[in-house]
Order: sequence, then C-alpha cells, then structure tokens
Amino acid sequence: MLSKLKQKFIPTTPTPVDILTGYAHWSKSYQASPHNPLMEVEQQAMLGLIPVDLRDYGCLDMACGSGRYTLLLQARRANCVFGIDYSADMLVQAKKVDLGGHLIRAPFWPLPLPDDHFDLITCGMAVGHEQNLPQLIAECARVLRPGGLLIYSDLHPFGASAGWQRTFKADNGTTYQLEHHFHTLSDHDHVCREAGLQIETVLEPSLPTNVDPHQNPVVLVIKATKADPISNLQSPIS
Ligand SMILES: C[S@@+](CC[C@H](N)C(=O)[O-])C[C@H]1O[C@@H](n2cnc3c(N)ncnc32)[C@H](O)[C@@H]1O
Repeated sequence: MLSKLKQKFIPTTPTPVDILTGYAHWSKSYQASPHNPLMEVEQQAMLGLIPVDLRDYGCLDMACGSGRYTLLLQARRANCVFGIDYSADMLVQAKKVDLGGHLIRAPFWPLPLPDDHFDLITCGMAVGHEQNLPQLIAECARVLRPGGLLIYSDLHPFGASAGWQRTFKADNGTTYQLEHHFHTLSDHDHVCREAGLQIETVLEPSLPTNVDPHQNPVVLVIKATKADPISNLQSPIS
C-alpha cells in the first residue's frame, strides 16, 4: 500500500544510466521526428541553417539516433548520407525508417571514415553526452572536406545554472538520467577554432511564449565551416 502511495505522490529520483543502457530503453519510443516543444524549435533552427538543396552534398549525420536528420538530409535530396551512432538499439530504429542511407555503428571517435570527405555533417542533440568536446569536434573536422559545413545542436548551456538534467521516462515506467555535459558558447568557439573550423552562425531559440513566458534559450545551434587553405590564399599583389 505504502509503495503504491509512493509511486503516486512522491516524485522519484531518476536512475542514472550509461549512454548505451539509456538509449537501449529510450530507442523503443524515440521517434525520428520532434517529440517535444524543445525538439520542434531545435529542428526549425537546424533546418534554417542546412542548405535547402543538397544534391551535390555528401553528408554525415553524427549520432543519428533513430534517423531524424538522416531522413531530413535525404528529403533535401542529399547525394549520399551516412548515419553513425554508438547505440545499436537506436540504429535498429533508424533502419526501420531509413530511405537508403548508410548506417554505421561507431562512437564519436575514431570515426571509421576517411579524411577530408564530407561536404556537410549534422549532429542533433548529442554533443552534450560527451565530456571531451575538443576530441569530438576535431574528429568532425578531420572527416569534413575543406570548405565543408558542420551544423549541430545541443541543450543550451543556460541549463547548467537552471539545474536541467537529461532525463526520460522509459516504456517500463522508470525515469532514467543520462550523462550530460553543458558546454558553453566560449567552449564551442575555442574548440572549433582549434579544430580549424570557423563558427558562422549561432542560434539560441527559446520555446514559444505560451510554453515559456521567460523566453530562456533552450538549445544552442551552431554552424561552422572548415577552413579551405586554397580559397584562403591571398591573390598576389601585382
Ligand atoms: C538525443 S539522441 C539524438 C538523436 C538524433 N541525432 C536526433 O537528433 O534525433 C543522442 C544520440 O547520441 C548518441 N550518442 C551518445 N553518445 C555517443 C557516442 N559517444 N558516440 C556516438 N553516438 C553517441 C546516442 O546513441 C543517441 O542516439
């Protein structure tokens, strides 16, 4: 009786889990489309930065999960799309919806991919799962061709002071907490520069006013370009 009352009235503390265990649970309900208001504003901001016509683009969707951006890149007629994720369970979901991309199981690094290869890398809502942001961004920069684009999103670092946690309620009724590291905008700026990427756009959308009247930023969306030594050459002074 007491345990039933507890279930009903006492908020339970989330159970911490590692990434693979967490996404093994979450994959069962993790749709390849926005499933909350935060993801809606995040996706809108990301899509505003991703080129509309990707016919000439070789794309990589890092931490593709169940394939949300893999599908969106395909819908923009990308020449070719690779989706990479460490969670086999998320990739099973991606396989169910995938329209023809190449799905690979791999961690953020080392990526089993060649240097200077992709025209565009997307990475939706995943970099905060990694403490070592420099290594993650450097690996993206390695596989990006000179002049290529990296467009990625994450929970806004405002969440650190607001005490946000990365939690979800699984189908079994348990609320799990996943590892999350808030990276500040100056962390991103520094790390991108060190990796040879120039940040061109930063978006910090908030939820609609009817959901959050305070209009605090909820996600950070970044577009960076890999330096192209050839186009950066100064023309000789005549
Ligand atoms: C919040 S989900 C986002 C999925 C997808 N990008 C989206 O926006 O819908 C985060 C994804 O990051 C993946 N992930 C977390 N840590 C990873 C790592 N070290 N290497 C590769 N993928 C990782 C998880 O497996 C999960 O699929």
